[in-house]
Amino acid sequence: MPATVVVGVQWGDEGKGKIVDSAAESANMVVRFQGGNNAGHTLVVGGRKRVLHLVPSGILQSHATCIVGPGVVVDPRVFAEEIAAIEAEGLLPDPRRLLVSARAPLVMPYHCALDHLREARAGDGRIGTTGRGIGPAYEDLVGRRAIPYGLLGEPDAFRARLHGLLEEKNALIGHLGGDPLNADAIAEEYLALAPALLRHSADVTAETQDALEAGQEVLFEGAQGTLLDVLHGTVPFVTSSHTIAAAACTGLGIGPGRIDRVVGVTKAYTTRVGEGPFPTELEGEVGERLRSAGGEFGATTGRPRRCGWLDLVALRHASALNGCTELVVTKLDVLSGFESLQICTKYRLPDGSITRRFPPSGNLGDCEPLYEAVGGWMEDISDIREVSALPGAVHAFIERMESEVGVPVRTVSVGPEREATLRC
Ligand code: GDP
Ligand code: IMO
Ligand code: MG
Repeated sequence: MPATVVVGVQWGDEGKGKIVDSAAESANMVVRFQGGNNAGHTLVVGGRKRVLHLVPSGILQSHATCIVGPGVVVDPRVFAEEIAAIEAEGLLPDPRRLLVSARAPLVMPYHCALDHLREARAGDGRIGTTGRGIGPAYEDLVGRRAIPYGLLGEPDAFRARLHGLLEEKNALIGHLGGDPLNADAIAEEYLALAPALLRHSADVTAETQDALEAGQEVLFEGAQGTLLDVLHGTVPFVTSSHTIAAAACTGLGIGPGRIDRVVGVTKAYTTRVGEGPFPTELEGEVGERLRSAGGEFGATTGRPRRCGWLDLVALRHASALNGCTELVVTKLDVLSGFESLQICTKYRLPDGSITRRFPPSGNLGDCEPLYEAVGGWMEDISDIREVSALPGAVHAFIERMESEVGVPVRTVSVGPEREATLRC
């Protein structure tokens, strides 16, 4: 199967990084196509944990070329730091193993400033962003004001562009109560990073197209999750990019017919970071238990993740938005020790009607979850390495998910390590 897209089918942090790392064992290329360093993808390999923000999760598989597509917004400071850390580990003997599009929009300091200022002013209406400037950076892409990565290679043009843009940005920053930024200081800092960054600049659209044409195996690594999609998610409590599988095409520049497989990654329960309605959220003891057993703290911001039961109404919707051909269920080990588990299969609406459909507005605020109980499993399953050895209740849980969503589960995960990934 040459072209596989891996996407989160919840609100992010489903374990995409871990799944991509293990699937990359047989991949020639691993490609990020959207988002930025709002992503935090955790890999646990050889007993060592690493969190990646911009570098694709194929980096620990030394045979794979890692690509950052033009649809990704790149913060040069964060990217330079991440590259330096990887180089220090000897994972990048050839800089051309990690390639970035010259068209990728840069995340600039004024994007981060605007993100923080807007959130602070919004008070209770805040989105709970990661504060990484992602929304303002994508605004500038659509507003045709982005500075592309490749412009780091043209210092005079970079400075001129920055000076021109900062006039308007500083007016906005001042209006929102912030301090103006200095164009010369930003240019100096960013252009100093340029030599290290430009070693990775490439025409990644052509590289990806050529790889697909040659029948190579290409893995597209989604960031965030389907319910955070800027158009199809739980608007306005979403990120600012398209997070669904179709974004792999626009985020690189390949045709939809190229995609062979769409893998939706879901936890066996649900988490969400940031604000916004979350029907199956558990605020009491059970939520706390999931958070501590699952280590549910943000990989990017360290914020505690909100936890709740599996929501199959949302999962059905997410699966359809992506055209999932298979599902991966992670963190099944975290559910060990519950006599019974709740799964949400329907919502009750304010008028009393009951629906299996996601509300067309994407506003889940008025949806009351209706649960069905399923049998739990008491044993620790984290050392199991064969699906056939999993308890019957785990099999029943997975079969229930398959029948509710209408998509087969082909992989399950019972621990954070690469080896704890089992093919069904
Ligand atoms: P991503 O953003 O989708 O890549 O996910 P994150 O890395 O932000 O969050 C997933 C967290 O769960 C990380 O700490 C992973 O190491 C961990 N993880 C992934 N799969 C499993 C699993 O099957 N069991 C357990 N216990 N942890 C897992
Ligand atoms: P990965 O790739 C979970 C959430 C933020 C906030 C909203 C908007 O690790 O799954 P943004 O900074 O993007 O403008 O924030 O989106 N969010 C994520 N939640 N996982 C992520 O990425 C996320 N990236 C953004 O918490 O609610
Ligand atoms: Mg994450």
